[in-house]
Amino acid sequence: MIDLGAGCGAMSLGLVATTTIPLVITAIDRDAAALQIAAASVRDLAARRGLATTITTRVDDANGARLAEADLVVMGTLLNELAEPARIALVERALAAVGPDGAVILIEPALRETSRSLHAVRDAILTRGKGFVFAPCTRRSAPCPALADPTDWCHDDRAVTLPPRTAELARLTHLRDGGLKFSYLVLRHDSRGLADEPNAWRVVGDLWAQKGKVEVPACSEAGRVPLRLLRRHRSAANREVERAERGDVIVVDAPATAERVEIEAATTVVRRDPAKPI
Ligand SMILES: C[S@@+](CC[C@H](N)C(=O)[O-])C[C@H]1O[C@@H](n2cnc3c(N)ncnc32)[C@H](O)[C@@H]1O
Repeated sequence: MIDLGAGCGAMSLGLVATTTIPLVITAIDRDAAALQIAAASVRDLAARRGLATTITTRVDDANGARLAEADLVVMGTLLNELAEPARIALVERALAAVGPDGAVILIEPALRETSRSLHAVRDAILTRGKGFVFAPCTRRSAPCPALADPTDWCHDDRAVTLPPRTAELARLTHLRDGGLKFSYLVLRHDSRGLADEPNAWRVVGDLWAQKGKVEVPACSEAGRVPLRLLRRHRSAANREVERAERGDVIVVDAPATAERVEIEAATTVVRRDPAKPI
Protein backbone atom coordinates (compact mmCIF):
# COMPACT_ATOMS: atom_id res chain seq x y z
CA MET A 1 0.00 0.00 0.00
CA ILE A 2 1.25 3.49 -0.80
CA ASP A 3 0.13 6.31 1.48
CA LEU A 4 0.76 9.51 -0.50
CA GLY A 5 0.88 12.72 1.49
CA ALA A 6 0.85 10.43 4.50
CA GLY A 7 1.50 13.15 7.08
CA CYS A 8 1.26 11.59 10.54
CA GLY A 9 -0.26 8.46 8.99
CA ALA A 10 -4.02 8.82 9.49
CA MET A 11 -4.89 6.81 6.37
CA SER A 12 -2.42 4.00 7.14
CA LEU A 13 -3.57 3.92 10.75
CA GLY A 14 -7.18 3.62 9.57
CA LEU A 15 -6.27 0.56 7.57
CA VAL A 16 -4.16 -0.99 10.32
CA ALA A 17 -7.09 -0.45 12.71
CA THR A 18 -9.65 -2.16 10.49
CA THR A 19 -7.98 -4.97 8.53
CA THR A 20 -6.59 -8.36 9.43
CA ILE A 21 -4.50 -8.46 6.24
CA PRO A 22 -0.74 -8.06 6.79
CA LEU A 23 0.30 -4.73 5.25
CA VAL A 24 3.44 -3.51 3.52
CA ILE A 25 3.16 0.27 3.61
CA THR A 26 5.22 2.91 1.83
CA ALA A 27 4.43 6.33 3.31
CA ILE A 28 5.47 9.33 1.20
CA ASP A 29 5.41 12.96 2.27
CA ARG A 30 7.62 16.01 1.98
CA ASP A 31 7.44 16.44 5.77
CA ALA A 32 10.12 14.22 7.35
CA ALA A 33 9.01 14.92 10.94
CA ALA A 34 5.42 13.92 10.19
CA LEU A 35 6.62 10.68 8.59
CA GLN A 36 8.52 9.81 11.76
CA ILE A 37 5.32 10.12 13.74
CA ALA A 38 3.50 8.03 11.10
CA ALA A 39 6.08 5.23 11.23
CA ALA A 40 6.13 5.08 15.02
CA SER A 41 2.35 5.11 15.42
CA VAL A 42 1.70 2.58 12.64
CA ARG A 43 4.26 0.19 14.16
CA ASP A 44 2.78 0.69 17.62
CA LEU A 45 -0.83 0.06 16.52
CA ALA A 46 0.15 -2.92 14.33
CA ALA A 47 2.03 -4.47 17.27
CA ARG A 48 -0.91 -3.94 19.60
CA ARG A 49 -3.25 -5.53 17.06
CA GLY A 50 -0.82 -8.38 16.36
CA LEU A 51 -0.80 -7.45 12.67
CA ALA A 52 2.32 -8.27 10.64
CA THR A 53 2.84 -4.83 9.11
CA THR A 54 5.91 -3.07 7.79
CA ILE A 55 6.15 0.64 7.04
CA THR A 56 8.85 2.37 5.02
CA THR A 57 8.90 6.15 4.80
CA ARG A 58 10.18 8.31 1.96
CA VAL A 59 10.59 12.09 1.94
CA ASP A 60 9.54 13.07 -1.56
CA ASP A 61 7.34 15.42 -3.57
CA ALA A 62 4.11 13.57 -4.37
CA ASN A 63 4.04 15.20 -7.80
CA GLY A 64 7.19 13.51 -9.00
CA ALA A 65 7.48 10.58 -6.60
CA ARG A 66 8.13 7.20 -8.18
CA LEU A 67 5.21 4.91 -7.38
CA ALA A 68 6.04 1.21 -7.29
CA GLU A 69 3.36 -1.41 -8.02
CA ALA A 70 0.78 -1.56 -5.25
CA ASP A 71 -2.60 -3.05 -4.43
CA LEU A 72 -3.79 0.18 -2.91
CA VAL A 73 -2.83 3.86 -3.17
CA VAL A 74 -4.42 6.19 -0.62
CA MET A 75 -4.33 9.98 -0.53
CA GLY A 76 -5.87 11.59 2.54
CA THR A 77 -6.57 15.31 2.08
CA LEU A 78 -3.59 15.67 -0.23
CA LEU A 79 -5.18 16.73 -3.52
CA ASN A 80 -6.42 20.09 -2.20
CA GLU A 81 -2.82 20.96 -1.28
CA LEU A 82 -1.65 20.47 -4.88
CA ALA A 83 -2.01 22.84 -7.82
CA GLU A 84 -5.15 21.99 -9.81
CA PRO A 85 -3.44 20.68 -12.98
CA ALA A 86 -1.23 18.39 -10.89
CA ARG A 87 -4.18 16.61 -9.25
CA ILE A 88 -5.42 14.65 -12.24
CA ALA A 89 -1.88 13.76 -13.32
CA LEU A 90 -1.14 12.37 -9.85
CA VAL A 91 -4.38 10.36 -9.69
CA GLU A 92 -3.60 8.92 -13.15
CA ARG A 93 -0.12 7.89 -11.95
CA ALA A 94 -1.66 6.30 -8.86
CA LEU A 95 -4.05 4.33 -11.08
CA ALA A 96 -1.13 3.23 -13.25
CA ALA A 97 0.58 1.88 -10.12
CA VAL A 98 -2.31 -0.39 -9.07
CA GLY A 99 -3.15 -3.68 -10.74
CA PRO A 100 -6.49 -4.88 -12.16
CA ASP A 101 -7.83 -5.73 -8.69
CA GLY A 102 -6.29 -2.71 -6.96
CA ALA A 103 -7.83 0.58 -5.91
CA VAL A 104 -7.04 4.24 -5.42
CA ILE A 105 -8.78 5.86 -2.46
CA LEU A 106 -9.04 9.65 -2.33
CA ILE A 107 -10.40 11.52 0.70
CA GLU A 108 -10.91 15.27 0.76
CA PRO A 109 -12.49 17.74 3.18
CA ALA A 110 -16.28 17.96 2.85
CA LEU A 111 -16.09 21.66 1.94
CA ARG A 112 -17.74 22.91 -1.23
CA GLU A 113 -14.58 23.78 -3.18
CA THR A 114 -12.52 20.73 -2.18
CA SER A 115 -15.46 18.40 -2.84
CA ARG A 116 -16.21 19.97 -6.22
CA SER A 117 -12.55 19.59 -7.19
CA LEU A 118 -12.83 15.91 -6.34
CA HIS A 119 -15.97 15.64 -8.51
CA ALA A 120 -13.96 17.23 -11.35
CA VAL A 121 -11.16 14.67 -10.86
CA ARG A 122 -13.82 11.94 -11.04
CA ASP A 123 -15.16 13.27 -14.33
CA ALA A 124 -11.67 13.71 -15.83
CA ILE A 125 -10.68 10.10 -15.01
CA LEU A 126 -13.93 8.78 -16.52
CA THR A 127 -13.84 10.88 -19.68
CA ARG A 128 -10.15 10.06 -20.29
CA GLY A 129 -10.93 6.35 -19.85
CA LYS A 130 -8.30 5.95 -17.11
CA GLY A 131 -10.47 4.15 -14.57
CA PHE A 132 -13.92 3.47 -13.15
CA VAL A 133 -15.65 4.75 -10.04
CA PHE A 134 -16.15 1.98 -7.49
CA ALA A 135 -17.58 4.26 -4.76
CA PRO A 136 -19.35 6.34 -3.62
CA CYS A 137 -21.36 6.90 -6.84
CA THR A 138 -23.83 4.42 -8.25
CA ARG A 139 -23.75 6.64 -11.34
CA ARG A 140 -21.06 5.23 -13.61
CA SER A 141 -20.80 8.08 -16.12
CA ALA A 142 -19.66 11.71 -16.29
CA PRO A 143 -20.61 14.44 -15.67
CA CYS A 144 -21.19 14.47 -11.93
CA PRO A 145 -24.63 16.12 -11.59
CA ALA A 146 -23.48 18.14 -8.55
CA LEU A 147 -21.21 20.19 -10.81
CA ALA A 148 -24.16 21.57 -12.79
CA ASP A 149 -25.04 23.95 -9.93
CA PRO A 150 -22.05 26.01 -8.68
CA THR A 151 -23.47 26.01 -5.13
CA ASP A 152 -23.84 22.24 -4.97
CA TRP A 153 -21.50 19.48 -3.77
CA CYS A 154 -21.66 15.92 -2.55
CA HIS A 155 -20.12 14.61 0.69
CA ASP A 156 -20.43 11.95 3.34
CA ASP A 157 -21.43 12.45 6.97
CA ARG A 158 -21.05 9.53 9.35
CA ALA A 159 -22.05 9.28 12.97
CA VAL A 160 -19.00 8.78 15.16
CA THR A 161 -18.30 8.33 18.85
CA LEU A 162 -14.99 10.02 19.56
CA PRO A 163 -12.54 8.45 22.01
CA PRO A 164 -12.47 10.32 25.35
CA ARG A 165 -9.39 12.52 24.75
CA THR A 166 -10.52 13.52 21.25
CA ALA A 167 -14.01 14.21 22.58
CA GLU A 168 -12.49 16.50 25.21
CA LEU A 169 -10.47 18.30 22.53
CA ALA A 170 -13.62 18.74 20.43
CA ARG A 171 -15.46 20.11 23.48
CA LEU A 172 -12.72 22.63 24.34
CA THR A 173 -12.31 23.83 20.76
CA HIS A 174 -16.08 23.84 20.05
CA LEU A 175 -15.52 21.52 17.10
CA ARG A 176 -18.10 19.02 15.95
CA ASP A 177 -17.97 15.81 17.96
CA GLY A 178 -20.82 13.65 16.67
CA GLY A 179 -20.34 13.46 12.92
CA LEU A 180 -17.50 12.76 10.57
CA LYS A 181 -17.80 14.78 7.35
CA PHE A 182 -15.65 14.00 4.32
CA SER A 183 -15.75 13.56 0.56
CA TYR A 184 -14.29 10.44 -1.00
CA LEU A 185 -13.71 8.63 -4.24
CA VAL A 186 -12.59 5.06 -4.87
CA LEU A 187 -11.26 4.42 -8.37
CA ARG A 188 -10.48 1.05 -9.95
CA HIS A 189 -9.66 -0.51 -13.31
CA ASP A 190 -12.44 -3.06 -12.88
CA SER A 191 -15.77 -1.67 -14.09
CA ARG A 192 -17.81 -3.29 -11.29
CA GLY A 193 -19.14 -0.72 -8.84
CA LEU A 194 -20.55 -0.51 -5.37
CA ALA A 195 -24.01 -1.41 -6.71
CA ASP A 196 -24.59 -2.76 -10.17
CA GLU A 197 -28.39 -2.68 -10.23
CA PRO A 198 -29.64 -0.20 -12.86
CA ASN A 199 -32.01 1.41 -10.35
CA ALA A 200 -29.40 1.92 -7.60
CA TRP A 201 -29.38 5.42 -6.11
CA ARG A 202 -26.90 7.01 -3.75
CA VAL A 203 -28.45 9.14 -1.03
CA VAL A 204 -26.72 12.53 -1.34
CA GLY A 205 -28.47 14.53 1.38
CA ASP A 206 -30.70 14.34 4.42
CA LEU A 207 -34.22 13.01 4.33
CA TRP A 208 -36.78 15.82 4.21
CA ALA A 209 -40.05 15.05 6.01
CA GLN A 210 -42.96 17.33 5.13
CA LYS A 211 -46.67 17.18 5.70
CA GLY A 212 -47.95 14.26 3.66
CA LYS A 213 -44.63 13.21 2.11
CA VAL A 214 -40.93 12.49 2.54
CA GLU A 215 -38.22 13.25 0.01
CA VAL A 216 -34.72 11.80 -0.17
CA PRO A 217 -32.14 13.59 -2.37
CA ALA A 218 -30.49 10.93 -4.51
CA CYS A 219 -28.17 10.50 -7.48
CA SER A 220 -27.88 7.77 -10.08
CA GLU A 221 -27.28 7.19 -13.77
CA ALA A 222 -30.66 8.91 -14.28
CA GLY A 223 -29.49 12.14 -12.61
CA ARG A 224 -29.82 13.90 -9.27
CA VAL A 225 -33.47 14.00 -8.20
CA PRO A 226 -35.51 13.34 -5.04
CA LEU A 227 -37.04 9.96 -4.28
CA ARG A 228 -40.55 10.95 -3.16
CA LEU A 229 -42.97 8.95 -1.04
CA LEU A 230 -46.43 10.35 -0.36
CA ARG A 231 -47.49 9.17 3.09
CA ARG A 232 -50.68 7.67 1.71
CA HIS A 233 -48.45 5.30 -0.33
CA ARG A 234 -46.45 4.01 2.66
CA SER A 235 -46.24 0.20 2.64
CA ALA A 236 -44.10 -2.66 3.93
CA ALA A 237 -42.43 -2.83 0.50
CA ASN A 238 -41.23 0.79 0.51
CA ARG A 239 -40.71 1.53 4.23
CA GLU A 240 -36.90 1.49 3.93
CA VAL A 241 -36.94 4.83 2.12
CA GLU A 242 -37.98 6.52 5.38
CA ARG A 243 -34.81 5.15 7.03
CA ALA A 244 -32.52 6.53 4.34
CA GLU A 245 -29.34 8.21 5.49
CA ARG A 246 -26.76 10.15 3.52
CA GLY A 247 -24.34 7.72 1.87
CA ASP A 248 -26.80 4.80 1.70
CA VAL A 249 -27.42 2.95 -1.53
CA ILE A 250 -31.11 2.57 -2.32
CA VAL A 251 -32.45 0.27 -5.02
CA VAL A 252 -35.92 1.37 -6.15
CA ASP A 253 -37.99 -0.46 -8.73
CA ALA A 254 -39.66 2.69 -10.06
CA PRO A 255 -38.81 4.84 -13.08
CA ALA A 256 -37.23 8.30 -12.80
CA THR A 257 -38.59 11.42 -14.47
CA ALA A 258 -36.56 14.61 -14.86
CA GLU A 259 -38.12 15.85 -11.58
CA ARG A 260 -38.26 12.82 -9.28
CA VAL A 261 -38.78 9.15 -8.62
CA GLU A 262 -42.33 8.61 -7.38
CA ILE A 263 -42.51 5.72 -4.92
CA GLU A 264 -45.90 4.01 -5.03
CA ALA A 265 -47.37 1.56 -2.51
CA ALA A 266 -46.26 -1.37 -4.66
CA THR A 267 -42.74 -0.01 -5.21
CA THR A 268 -40.02 -2.12 -3.62
CA VAL A 269 -37.24 -0.22 -1.87
CA VAL A 270 -34.04 -1.97 -0.72
CA ARG A 271 -31.54 0.01 1.35
CA ARG A 272 -27.86 -0.80 1.92
CA ASP A 273 -25.19 0.96 3.97
CA PRO A 274 -22.07 0.47 1.87
CA ALA A 275 -19.81 1.14 4.86
CA LYS A 276 -21.19 -1.86 6.73
CA PRO A 277 -19.61 -5.27 6.01
CA ILE A 278 -21.96 -7.47 3.96
C1 LIG B 1 -3.72 17.62 5.43
S1 LIG B 1 -2.30 16.63 5.53
C2 LIG B 1 -3.00 15.02 5.47
C3 LIG B 1 -2.18 13.98 6.12
C4 LIG B 1 -2.77 12.59 6.14
N1 LIG B 1 -2.82 12.01 4.83
C5 LIG B 1 -4.14 12.60 6.75
O1 LIG B 1 -5.09 12.10 6.10
O2 LIG B 1 -4.31 13.04 7.89
C6 LIG B 1 -1.60 16.83 3.92
C7 LIG B 1 -0.23 16.21 3.82
O3 LIG B 1 0.21 16.31 2.47
C8 LIG B 1 1.57 16.65 2.44
N2 LIG B 1 1.86 17.28 1.15
C9 LIG B 1 1.31 18.37 0.60
N3 LIG B 1 1.83 18.61 -0.61
C10 LIG B 1 2.74 17.62 -0.84
C11 LIG B 1 3.60 17.31 -1.91
N4 LIG B 1 3.64 18.05 -3.02
N5 LIG B 1 4.39 16.23 -1.80
C12 LIG B 1 4.38 15.46 -0.68
N6 LIG B 1 3.57 15.69 0.36
C13 LIG B 1 2.77 16.77 0.29
C14 LIG B 1 1.75 17.58 3.62
O4 LIG B 1 3.10 17.64 4.04
C15 LIG B 1 0.83 16.95 4.65
O5 LIG B 1 1.52 16.01 5.45
